[in-house]
Amino acid sequence: MSDDPSMLDPSESPATGSEPAVDRDAIAGHRAALRDRHLRPPTERPTSSARGLHHTALISSDVERTIAFYQDLLEFPLTELIENRDYPGSTHFFFDIGNDNLLAFFDFPGLDVGPYAEVLGGLHHMAISVEPRRWDRLVDKLRDAGVEHVIHSEVSVYFRDPDGARIELIADPLGEMYGTKVV
Ligand SMILES: [Fe+2]
Repeated sequence: MSDDPSMLDPSESPATGSEPAVDRDAIAGHRAALRDRHLRPPTERPTSSARGLHHTALISSDVERTIAFYQDLLEFPLTELIENRDYPGSTHFFFDIGNDNLLAFFDFPGLDVGPYAEVLGGLHHMAISVEPRRWDRLVDKLRDAGVEHVIHSEVSVYFRDPDGARIELIADPLGEMYGTKVV
């Protein structure tokens, strides 16, 4: 886990916490132009070509520790654990995160994968929706387990998994965020 609570807060990115010099007005103007050009109202949007998140593929440094965290603490059942053909001795394992979507991991035995880092193409954070009552229970479990966490807007809790990946559990339903429809 991080020793620095600010590292848990998604508004504190990049990880250094330093504020780069940016022209926020110019960026806001560009963002507005992007909305005009690309964002269509729901009634005019085509259906997605995708059916859902089949699986992720995050890197784990310790298969058993990752299973303990996601299955025992977060209550995402382990559904499969197989050989990863792409790397000798690598294990590919999967957790049920609802709606037939899977959170999956590889390990790379013998390979120094380095510490967690925020890089292009890397994971910033992953938000998983849970029922509000389950969310309350999981926050209690995180606290009891001594996992550092930060709560935002009364429905989001941020913390890190044993390898440093930043996870958010959100009590809002899929497609909603803080009272706003986002799908
Ligand atoms: Fe988020």
